[in-house]
Amino acid sequence: MSVHPKSKNIMNNLANSRKSVFITGCSQGLGLELVTVFSTNGWNVIAGVRNLNNIDSRLHLPNVRLLKLDVEKAEDISALGEELADLPIDVIINNAGIFKDDNFETGAADEMLQMYSTHAIAPFLIMQKLLNNILLGSNKTIAVISGRMGSFNSYAGSGCYAYRASKAAANMITKTMAYDLRDKNVKVIAIHPGWIKTKMGGKDAKVCPRESASGIFKLINNTDEIETGVFYTFEGQKLEW
Ligand SMILES: NC(=O)c1ccc[n+]([C@@H]2O[C@H](COP(=O)([O-])OP(=O)(O)OC[C@H]3O[C@@H](n4cnc5c(N)ncnc54)[C@H](OP(=O)(O)O)[C@@H]3O)[C@@H](O)[C@H]2O)c1
Repeated sequence: MSVHPKSKNIMNNLANSRKSVFITGCSQGLGLELVTVFSTNGWNVIAGVRNLNNIDSRLHLPNVRLLKLDVEKAEDISALGEELADLPIDVIINNAGIFKDDNFETGAADEMLQMYSTHAIAPFLIMQKLLNNILLGSNKTIAVISGRMGSFNSYAGSGCYAYRASKAAANMITKTMAYDLRDKNVKVIAIHPGWIKTKMGGKDAKVCPRESASGIFKLINNTDEIETGVFYTFEGQKLEW
């Protein structure tokens, strides 16, 4: 297997025998907890953060490698191909997300476009770019951290147009890609992580980030039980799209 010099560095620094996961949006919240849970369970973690300065000390772990990745920046996503060339990746978790509580009066094009870019276009481009890495891995699983608010049948309520529409688009990309990649034995799923106590979820949220991340780890680690093209909760239950 030919290995790009840059990815060789990453491989040299990570034990090859371990499973590996690539996660976006790891500076805080659910992403940070996912890094902690996967790494303490013996996985290698490639953790995308948009700012390599001011890194949370919990990300400084021997089996964690940090990668500068702003998912809104096409050049950062393009660079992934080179950075990770030929590196087997077992699981990709598209986690980076943003939220703005708009309504019928305040909804605006720029926020809609930004959320669409972050929640739908970025996971699509990342999955395109890293398909070869996933095919080299053993779990062959791609997860999109979506949310019940992007579901037509599992959620009702007003407002949050930009967020809900962008997560619905992410769900459609997940479902379509699951169809397209089924012959390659790649599983593509969406996950509702619960209403989590993070910057986004706020202090009234019901689920602590560690509980959500542990549930997601359990779901993903149990690859044989995962059905492709399914929308799961972090507790492993199926949700309607
Ligand atoms: N919290 C909830 O209740 C809830 C419910 C349903 C679904 N979700 C979904 O769960 C995921 C994680 O949310 P969270 O609660 O952990 O939110 P959070 O605490 O606000 O963290 C969001 C993370 O995404 C990163 N991010 C945002 N835009 C990015 C970009 N352009 N490039 C790279 N990273 C970017 C942030 O980085 P910075 O630190 O640089 O800003 C941060 O690390 C999101 O997809 C969210 O939609 C959350």
